[in-house]
Amino acid sequence: QSGKLSIDPAFVVAPVNRRVFGSFVEHMGRCVYGGLYEPGHPTADEDGLRGDVMELVREMGVTAVRYPGGNFVSGYRWEDGVGPVEDRPTRLDPAWKTIETNAFGLNEFMRWARKADIEPVMAVNLGTRGIAEAVELLEYANHPKGTALSDLRVEHGAPEPHAIRTWCLGNEMDGPWQLGHKTAEEYGRLAAETARAMRQVEPDLELVACGSSGRAMATFGAWEDTVLEHTYELVDHVSAHAYYELDGDDRASFLASSVDMDKFIREVVATADAVGARLKSSKKIMISFDEWNVWYNKALTESGLPTDWTQAPRLSEDAYTVLDAVVVGSLLITLLQHSDRVAIACQAQLVNTIAPIRSEPDGPAWRQSIFHPFALTARHARGQVLDLRVDAPTLTTAKHGEVAVLDAVATHDAETGQLTVFVVNRDPAEAVAFATDLRGFGAATLTEAVLLADDDLFAANTMDEPDRVAPRPHTSAAVDGTTLRAELPPASWSMFRLQ
Ligand code: AHR
Repeated sequence: QSGKLSIDPAFVVAPVNRRVFGSFVEHMGRCVYGGLYEPGHPTADEDGLRGDVMELVREMGVTAVRYPGGNFVSGYRWEDGVGPVEDRPTRLDPAWKTIETNAFGLNEFMRWARKADIEPVMAVNLGTRGIAEAVELLEYANHPKGTALSDLRVEHGAPEPHAIRTWCLGNEMDGPWQLGHKTAEEYGRLAAETARAMRQVEPDLELVACGSSGRAMATFGAWEDTVLEHTYELVDHVSAHAYYELDGDDRASFLASSVDMDKFIREVVATADAVGARLKSSKKIMISFDEWNVWYNKALTESGLPTDWTQAPRLSEDAYTVLDAVVVGSLLITLLQHSDRVAIACQAQLVNTIAPIRSEPDGPAWRQSIFHPFALTARHARGQVLDLRVDAPTLTTAKHGEVAVLDAVATHDAETGQLTVFVVNRDPAEAVAFATDLRGFGAATLTEAVLLADDDLFAANTMDEPDRVAPRPHTSAAVDGTTLRAELPPASWSMFRLQ
């Protein structure tokens, strides 16, 4: 079978939003403790931050990180995580049945973010707490000095304000599993009043209201409608969360997961725009897709949380396969295709828990398969996202109906002349002979072609074999005249760079 892309430099969607290459650090499992932070590890610095993990985070090209949760934030007291470590209380975290020592908190995270050159996206607790605590946290974090809370931060060793610009108003408040779960009406009012109060302290913040924690939620749509009705002029973004996993051996549906993500984005945009029209507002609400990934969540649900309360238990340390990496690459294609409305996206999570980076206590850190499509996309998606057309055969899937076997996005940097094309072949069994007409770009030369595919779709990287799954040169790719051609193996992700 064969497939074709039509690309033209004049058809632009929007600039690449750098914050689409965001990630998420939650106090869950070993993401923080044993992930970012492990005092005594051979690579740890004076702050106990693991140098090997930091190096991989930089290599991955992560631009922004949401912190500290997740379900965790809905029971969190931020004050517990600041001040002298020996005075910090140890508490129960009911969200993950974990003992939280609070050795790592806001100031440690900000130190890590600065060293890793990452923009923070901070979440406030609107589950068990409210307006006062959110405003107090903002004062502690961002006010220069001269008030009780800002002076406390200075006393805690952070003389400069953290200048955190983007704040999430709670987490997944539509989910019955959430501590302090609320109806859309209850949450909409609370989010609006919290936003208003935070803006009285600092008008220029970027605020994210909680959207639905999944497209399959019974309240999806109605939730966004009510919440935005209350918050429309007070927030900038509405959140969306989506996780995908292989169900049995239904590879075709899994490979087409991005069809669901695409519909999710379109439906949230339609709902937000309908609210805007009703309110006669010229403002456009953007999406913060602040949790997305492949997550073997059923395994966690079936095994349940640990029966005993322990510190940093191993939770959802999924070992990602080639198939998972192809899906992650294709979800990134979808996020980029919607650059006009998706302003922020955070892969969940960053280290050990549902993560592209794995690390062992006192041991090494390594790249999982899903690290690679993320790193390559973050590095090479530059300039403007182009609105391209895909002509490809279709395939019938159990979950998403008929889908085109190819999906693609292209970015074009007019300054450097670099054109990058990302393509996924979602057919689990058949290769596709692929062609793209490059006439609109003049004489283009192929500078790099990379392929992520494998005869064993279930191969994964491990501590002993950390580079088993890695991108390799796309040997079949070539530019012939003004046409880029390549053979795309079944279940594969490719990147082509042209100049
Ligand atoms: O990322 C893991 C969990 O998934 C988060 O804590 C929660 O927000 C979501 O349900």
